[in-house]
Amino acid sequence: MAKIVLGVWTTHGPQLNTTPEQWMLRLPADRRRRHAYKGKTYSFDELVELRRGEGLAEQITLEARTAKHAANQAAIDQLARVWASVRPDCCVIFGNDQRELVLASMQPCFTVYHGDTFWNGPLSEQRLAGLAPGIRESEWANRPEQRVDYPGMPELARRLISTGLDSGWDFAASDCWPELAPEHHHDGTPHSFAFLVRRVMRDHVVPTLPIITNTFFPPNQPRPWRCFELGKLVHRVVNEWDNDLRVAIFGSGGMTHFVINEEFDRHLITAIEKRDEVFMRSVDPSYMVDGTSELFNWISAAGCLFQTTDLAGGLIDYVPCYRSEAGTGTAQGFITWTKTAQSSFVSISS
Ligand SMILES: [Fe+2]
Repeated sequence: MAKIVLGVWTTHGPQLNTTPEQWMLRLPADRRRRHAYKGKTYSFDELVELRRGEGLAEQITLEARTAKHAANQAAIDQLARVWASVRPDCCVIFGNDQRELVLASMQPCFTVYHGDTFWNGPLSEQRLAGLAPGIRESEWANRPEQRVDYPGMPELARRLISTGLDSGWDFAASDCWPELAPEHHHDGTPHSFAFLVRRVMRDHVVPTLPIITNTFFPPNQPRPWRCFELGKLVHRVVNEWDNDLRVAIFGSGGMTHFVINEEFDRHLITAIEKRDEVFMRSVDPSYMVDGTSELFNWISAAGCLFQTTDLAGGLIDYVPCYRSEAGTGTAQGFITWTKTAQSSFVSISS
């Protein structure tokens, strides 16, 4: 039978792939938009006022940013070492799409990709130039130098779709990884998946089942309890698969952004450490907006990995990467579970 041998929860955003100086390229956009924070929305200036007294000015000096950047890179290196030492045969990635694959004209809540392969490739100069500052500079991490086809897992995908149909899940199914189209924000592999391929697997890609959740876009984002149930279903399907393969599970995205909420992030990390199903199922959906919504993928991974009895591990690092006194930025988190807990070295950078 197939066996889950590795669990990874990791963030994947642009700050992981840009310099501390480049982090600040996102500031003009931060200042322009309104931000979700603790269930309400605020202007940038309102957030500065609200968060006065938290000492955020000290967190955004170049020195502080440089230390956090180093912590991030060390954590990613640790993820890559764990991946290389465990050497799974294949993986399931709970990830999301940001208009790379899925358009608003037909936007499923959950899509199971059952194609034989999926592709990634470099962006054209024209496409690259059209990306927002601070995003453009991070794209190296999500793109191979040449177009490449990665192996999918059609058999496991169809098992998931079929078992789902027998148990209350009507997944959207796709075997088409779209070619470049003008209305797509990007093309190729969404960064939620590509970051793992490039920076964790280091391009040593194993057959991969992408499960694409619409975390970002109203009106049909999932509920936390449903994501947890999705994870449980994936655990069941993997464990019923009569195939002697060692499987890795990834939850990709988050943590809180574009306004960092350390209290919420730390509660989530603790809930994973304690296998706290009640917390996971009952996360307040009003918090799960903007980039924070990618934590739906963490909840799905938790739903799967909490069912394992022989995996253990813990936090590699938690790094709240602020870039303004409004608390904008992205909180980075990295957790691994393995059979030997070889990945666990707890250190909190804050
Ligand atoms: Fe993302």
